[in-house]
Amino acid sequence: MTVEALQELLDDMSLAEKIGQMNQVIGSFYTGESVATGPMADKGFTEENIGLAGSVIGVSGADAEKRIQKGYMEKHPHQIPLLFMLDVINGYRTVFPIPLGQGAAFEPELSMRCARMAAQEAAVSGVHVTFSPMADLVRDARWGRVMESTGEDPYLNSLYAAAMVRGYQGEDLRKAGSVAACVKHFAGYGAPDAGRDYNTVELSEHTLRQFYLPAYEAGIQTGAALVMTAFNTIDGIPATGNRRLMRQILREEMGFDGVLISDWAAIEEMLCHGYCADRTQAAQRAVTAGVDVDMMSGVYAEQLTALVQDGKVPEALIDEAVMRILTLKNALGLFEAPFKDADEEKEKQIILCEEHRALAREAARKSFVLLKNEGVLPLSDKKKTAYIGPYVDSRNLMGAWSITGETKDVATLRESVLEQCADIDAVFCCGCPMTDSGRKLEGFLECTDEMVSAEEQQRMMDEAVEAAKACGQVVLLLGEDRRQSGEAASSAGIQIPGIQQELLDRVCAVCDQVAVVLFSGRPLDIRQIAEKAQAVLLAWMPGTEGARALVDVLSGRYSPSGKLPMSFPYCVGQVPVHYNEYPTGRPHVPGKDKDRFRSKYLDIPNSPLYLFGFGLTYTSFSVSPVVLDRDHMTKDEILTASVTVRNTGSVEGTETVQLYIRDVAASVVRPVKELKGFCKVTLQPDEQQNVRFFITEKELCFLTENGRWESEPGAFEVFIGTSSLADAPARFEYR
Ligand code: GLC
Repeated sequence: MTVEALQELLDDMSLAEKIGQMNQVIGSFYTGESVATGPMADKGFTEENIGLAGSVIGVSGADAEKRIQKGYMEKHPHQIPLLFMLDVINGYRTVFPIPLGQGAAFEPELSMRCARMAAQEAAVSGVHVTFSPMADLVRDARWGRVMESTGEDPYLNSLYAAAMVRGYQGEDLRKAGSVAACVKHFAGYGAPDAGRDYNTVELSEHTLRQFYLPAYEAGIQTGAALVMTAFNTIDGIPATGNRRLMRQILREEMGFDGVLISDWAAIEEMLCHGYCADRTQAAQRAVTAGVDVDMMSGVYAEQLTALVQDGKVPEALIDEAVMRILTLKNALGLFEAPFKDADEEKEKQIILCEEHRALAREAARKSFVLLKNEGVLPLSDKKKTAYIGPYVDSRNLMGAWSITGETKDVATLRESVLEQCADIDAVFCCGCPMTDSGRKLEGFLECTDEMVSAEEQQRMMDEAVEAAKACGQVVLLLGEDRRQSGEAASSAGIQIPGIQQELLDRVCAVCDQVAVVLFSGRPLDIRQIAEKAQAVLLAWMPGTEGARALVDVLSGRYSPSGKLPMSFPYCVGQVPVHYNEYPTGRPHVPGKDKDRFRSKYLDIPNSPLYLFGFGLTYTSFSVSPVVLDRDHMTKDEILTASVTVRNTGSVEGTETVQLYIRDVAASVVRPVKELKGFCKVTLQPDEQQNVRFFITEKELCFLTENGRWESEPGAFEVFIGTSSLADAPARFEYR
């Protein structure tokens, strides 16, 4: 439709129809599985407003989408099509590594390809909008939703948010295989006090803008069609009703003119926040803040009509919101093609096709981070191998947000080993249950864990120890259950379950060739694992092809190359912890200061166990000292920083060479270093390559005391290395 036609449509709509567009409901209202009575009626849902709702959440499947769309449009006064929205976070049916694992690949373009394939599968299944990318910066491993982020660095997160938006949306939303992207959760949701989900967020304006906003903005500048509000408060006001955050920062400063959708029931939750006295005030404050769509609280549907009729909400505000919603539907081509890509035949062809599975396997391989290796990996094909642990036969490798992924599509580790190494001399045993008995696990897709008796647990453990004794090498597959991370999965403790710790202790007591493969949705306290095992390979939640990818790497066919996108703390007492911290007035340098009065703990080190950007390979690399092509630069010049990287080991490997910059003194304090570039190089043994980074004013800009994003003259240090541990910087003057 043309803009004029959209305007004519809007002008012809009744107030009820307009407000209907701002209401999002669950699909089961249209399939009869949910009815607008009882609790749903209390939420303000009625047959009438459901019949006018503008969008649906949670429906997937071409057949279901077509049936709902057809039935709905036949009854709608203006035959305005529904928008179908769904959480496609790390894949649709072909599930890729969780976003934190994708961040470990340090390859945003790979994630763009993953998002593209996820969009293709979702689109043929009738999905129009995905609630992704999550661009929340994270520093606290206690928060279960770190799994959905790409980590602690604003620069890396910005690259990923932009890449995922490009992947989902393609060049044109009308085109087949494109879905609209929704950047979330605006803003600062990743910084809840104490790491407790939905808790208060207290960020200074400076910290919010310097660290937390850039990734959202990157997704928005890339053209994300939607933004989702966060559950938390900013400056004491819930984001969903925060006019300054949404009108001034999001829409005016960032120039976002797409659809702003609330998070689930977030409008109604402003009553619980104590920000709204009743649902009437909640509706008024949300629509005034510029929230266009009410996700499943029913408040808009119930309250807006009277507010407009009583003159408390200008109808112009409604028109503004509805025009954005109609514009999005038009951009997707839904007025001409309300079913868009939904196609049962194409579902069969595209979903889980070999190309998608191959990419999922590549993405999983590149997500793995080798944290320790004392010669155990790759596994020797001359030794008998024991694969032990609760993940040996698990298909739950897709993470907490893989709601459309199916475990039947996932090969287990045991199956993958036998599939790839049929004649392998190996034994497999579970060793222990996933979690300690009686531990309560929740999750979107409830699954009850059968309880294992103490006798059975003892038998399992004894069997595993015997297997370890009889083999020359052990792969110990441990970690969190997938339900231990994700939404509403905050945890004060971040260690593996006690029963798994016991298995680790007993296996390592009888075998000194133990490689731990760790499955997790968050950084964990793995001091014990790192101390006892000879190798530690972090697998995150690796997705549909994760187990096959693990065998690719454990066998040595592929070398691991991942780097930590989020620091692994020494222990939970350290969090929130991140590499790009401020130096403080009393920096503590281990072993270099005798002064007691330094910024340090009495009982643990300051440094995380494994820092941002760290990860080993099966080979080794040297990086020469940084060479600058000049010792000063002005704002219009480009300074070149280079190193020579050499593969000093005996096998091919891929290293991620990282550029960090420090602004030594500025009008506000600056981090000890900040990631400003990286480059992955694959080298054969003894091969070397010159790696150059170009530093412009852009890399030196920050939020100054003037509240502007600008550079300031002064001294800068340039670090180039294989992790944020890079030292021996080169120095230059910026004039
Ligand atoms: C959830 C999450 C959000 C998700 C939405 C729809 O509560 O906070 O990330 O997209 O509801 O499922």
